Amino acid sequence: MLNVAILAAGKGSRMESSLPKVLHKISGKSLLQRVIDSCVELKPDQIFIITGHKSKEVQKSIPNDKNINVVIQEPQSGTGHAIQVLCREVKKHEGKLLVLNGDVPLIRPSTLKKLLCLHDSKNADVSLITTKKTNPHGYGRVFLKENFIERIVEEKDCNDLERENRLINSGIYCFNWGNLSEIINTLKSNNNQKEIYLTDTVPLLKNALSLEVKDHRELQGINNRIQLSECEENIQNSIKEKHMLNGVTFINKASCSISEEVEIGKDVIIEANTHIRGNTKINNHCIIGPNTFIENSNVGLHCEISNSTVYASQIMDHIKIGPYSHIRPNSKISSFSKIGNFVEIKNSQLEEESKVNHLSYIGDSIIGKSTNIGAGTITANFDGQKKHQTKIGKNSSIGANTVFVAPINLGESVTTGAGSVITKDSKDNSLAISRTKQVNIENWKRKKS
Ligand code: UD1
Ligand code: MG
Repeated sequence: MLNVAILAAGKGSRMESSLPKVLHKISGKSLLQRVIDSCVELKPDQIFIITGHKSKEVQKSIPNDKNINVVIQEPQSGTGHAIQVLCREVKKHEGKLLVLNGDVPLIRPSTLKKLLCLHDSKNADVSLITTKKTNPHGYGRVFLKENFIERIVEEKDCNDLERENRLINSGIYCFNWGNLSEIINTLKSNNNQKEIYLTDTVPLLKNALSLEVKDHRELQGINNRIQLSECEENIQNSIKEKHMLNGVTFINKASCSISEEVEIGKDVIIEANTHIRGNTKINNHCIIGPNTFIENSNVGLHCEISNSTVYASQIMDHIKIGPYSHIRPNSKISSFSKIGNFVEIKNSQLEEESKVNHLSYIGDSIIGKSTNIGAGTITANFDGQKKHQTKIGKNSSIGANTVFVAPINLGESVTTGAGSVITKDSKDNSLAISRTKQVNIENWKRKKS
C-alpha cells in the first residue's frame, strides 16, 4: 500500500507574496500541480495534501479527484507538525507514506520510483532523497554513519563545521507509516526556528537510508523568487534542448520561452524573443519570430510569422504573417494566404490565397479564396449590442479603406470602390461603390478674412 502526503501548508514568507508559495507557477503550472503530477504515475492509493496558510485558495487549485484529499494544518508549526496532523486525521497507517515537499516541483517520477524500490528492497523505516550541492545554503544537512542516516541538521541549527557538509535533504521521504506514527508525536520544537521538524524523525527510526542522486537540478527547492526563476530556467533549458536535438534551431535561445506541451517539427527556426505557449503545434520548415507570441494554435508547414501575436487559431501551410499582425481566437487562415502589417483578425475564416496586407480589422468574417482585401479595410461587426458577420465571396477585390457594416454578404468576384461604406449585399461580379462623386471647382481660392 502506498499513500502520499504533500506538504503545502506553509506561508512561504521568503517569497514576499500575497499568493501562497505552492500556487506560484513555473512554465505555466503551479508548484503544487507539478508535485501532484510527479506522483500520479506511482498510482498511490490516496494523496493527502496538507494545506493551512490561505487554505481555501490552495484547495481551489486542487483537481477534483476521489484519490486526492485535503488535510488542514492549523496553525502551521512545522513540517513534522504537518505529519502529526495527518496521522491524527487518518486512522489507518498501513504500508508506505511518501512525503513530498510542495516546494520541490521538478522531481521526476522515475526518481521517486527508485526511492520506493530502495525502500522496499532494504525494508527501511525511512528512505530519503539526498544530493551533494556546491552551494548547500538553506537546506538541511544530512549526516551519515556507515550506510545509514544518523541525523539531519537544518541550516539555521548548524554549527560552522556542520554547515560545510554538502549532502542535503531534498525534502522527499518514504516512511514505513506504521513505524512513523509510533514516534511522530514525540517530536519537539527545541530548535532555532521553534518548529516541529519532520527531519527529527530520522534519529528516532532505526533503518534510515539515503538515495543520493547526481543531478541536483530536480531537487531544487523554492523558497524565494531567485530559486523560482532558477527552476524556470532549468525547465526552459531542458525543453529547448529537447527541441534542438529534434531539429529545431534557436537563434537566441535565452530570449525565448516554450511551454512543455508545445510540439515543434523539423527545420523550424525560432528567432529571438519568441514565446510559444499552451497547446501549440508548429509544423516543419517554419520560421517563427523574432518578437512573436503564439498560444494554443496550430501552424502548418512552411509558414513565416514575425513580430506578431497568434491566439487559439489555425494557420495552415505556406502562410506569411506579420510584421505586427494580431490573430485572435477562433480564426482559420488557409494555405498560401498573407496577413500583413497592423492587421487584426478575429473569429474569421480566410480561404486559400487570400491577402489582407495592411492596416485592417477583419472580425466575424468569411473571406473567399484569392480575395484581396485593400489597405485599411474594416469590418464594422458590432452594432453596440451584437456582433454580426461579413461574408465576401472568392476572387473579390476590396478597395482601400472600405468599411463593411455587418451583417453583409457579398457574392463572388465583387469589387468595392476605395473609401466605400458598404451597407447592402451585392451579387457576383458587381462593383459596389458608395461615395460622393468628386467635384473640382476651378480657380477656387480660400477667401482672406
Ligand atoms: C525543508 C527541510 C529541509 C530540506 C528542504 C528541502 C524541514 C524541517 N526542513 O526546509 O531539511 O533541505 O525542505 O527543500 O523539513 N510546510 C507545511 N507546514 C508547515 C511548514 C511547512 O506544510 O508547518 C510545507 C511548506 O509549505 C513547504 C514544505 O513544507 O512546501 C517545506 O517547508 P519550508 O518552510 O520550505 O522548509 P525548508 O526551510 O525549505
Ligand atoms: Mg522549502
